[in-house]
Amino acid sequence: MPQKVQITIDGKSTDLETLVASEGTNVIDVGKLLNEGMYTYDPGFMSTASCDSRITYIDGANGILMYRGYPIEQLAEQSNHLEVAYLLFNGELPSKQQYEDFVAAIIDNQAVDKKFQQIFNGFTTGAHPMSMVGAAVAGLASLYHEGTDIANADDRALTAVRLIAQIPTIAAMAYRHGKGKSFIEPDPGLSYAANFLNMCFGDERNISDTLADAMDRIFILHADHEQNASTSTVRMAGSTECNPFAAISAGVSALWGPSHGGANEAVLNMLTEIGDESRVEEYVAKAKDKDDPFKLMGFGHRVYKNFDPRATVMEESCGRVLDELGIDDEPLLGIAKQLEKIAREDEYFIERKLYPNIDFYSGITLKAMGIPTEMFTVIFTLGRMPGWISHWHEMMSAPYRIARPRQLYLGEHQRDYIDINKR
Ligand code: CMC
Repeated sequence: MPQKVQITIDGKSTDLETLVASEGTNVIDVGKLLNEGMYTYDPGFMSTASCDSRITYIDGANGILMYRGYPIEQLAEQSNHLEVAYLLFNGELPSKQQYEDFVAAIIDNQAVDKKFQQIFNGFTTGAHPMSMVGAAVAGLASLYHEGTDIANADDRALTAVRLIAQIPTIAAMAYRHGKGKSFIEPDPGLSYAANFLNMCFGDERNISDTLADAMDRIFILHADHEQNASTSTVRMAGSTECNPFAAISAGVSALWGPSHGGANEAVLNMLTEIGDESRVEEYVAKAKDKDDPFKLMGFGHRVYKNFDPRATVMEESCGRVLDELGIDDEPLLGIAKQLEKIAREDEYFIERKLYPNIDFYSGITLKAMGIPTEMFTVIFTLGRMPGWISHWHEMMSAPYRIARPRQLYLGEHQRDYIDINKR
């Protein structure tokens, strides 16, 4: 049942409508406030729903994450990334035939245009792979701009296939270019995750099923997370009706920051900086010190205030990888375990509900798998692609308006220009 909300401004009351969520928190439609000469103020969108969506549901208090109603734990255990990608984009799990057609379309679109590959030559070998991935994703617009009608659902589906198919190839190319190595072509005989690993490391190591499965799980766990910073960025850019590859590249940029997708890389850098288990307490103290900007990377989350269900799955996956690789004496792992133990018992972290998030365990897993640290956020990008494109598609499928927030202006009142010699 919709709830009744009344707001009184200077004695004048206005009824505001509430909209009922199928799960979780209902929302107050504040649109009418515009007629009352007031905006709402919510920096960081702490209590603002920017859209309605049917894709992903998170219950942060109870550690629940569902894609299209399916719990993340079931998808991570029983599905695979391409099936999850189909589910996110189309709303339903595919039939066997639909799945086979989707996989065939992905395989058909994996290769990146030969001439376009030269874009990587513009980057120095030491360039961060995220800068190359962002540029390459935006650059794909140049190949597909003319033929893409964003109002056409078939064109949007083809755009999704192109992006999901080519992001592993682009990610692997960014890695190989950074190492000064030649590119490895996609192998249509390999699974999505195994093909990605093969395009990165095929010439230097064997890609086992356990590693490919762990990578696929990492992709599934990252595939969507409702209106997070990068997805909101994709929606915001997309609301201007720009080319979808351009909108997605805006999401890639937003993801890069250490408060978001860059956290997995930041976790490893932090563990390396700590360097020894004997220094863990010192760093925990730094994290608690209000005068020190240091934060424990891989701890805390805007929406999960109990536990991050992705972290639970990831922790288990991390164990499997470490067992397969026979790793139990990795020094960074010892530091991570020690850090987790202290933080879980410390009042500061308990009071603020700061638990290890997915990036804490994915960072450790990727490190154990021999993935270079600078590739961690690229792997998050690869996993998040179906989520971004599904949100863009959802927005374009219904009436929408350009996203244009208001502000509370606190600047100067009007004043007259002063000649430069008189200032
Ligand atoms: N270490 C130490 N203190 C922290 C941390 C941390 N990692 N995270 C939050 N706090 C403190 C914060 O200082 C504040 O303290 P007080 O109430 O005394 O002022 C309190 O906890 C609440 O934090 P907040 O900054 O208001 O929380 P937020 O919702 O704005 O930020 C966050 C969430 C994820 C940006 C933040 O917890 C953080 O920076 N964590 C480390 C980076 C990280 O791991 N990010 C990855 C998130 S998971 C991947 C994804 O989905 O993007």
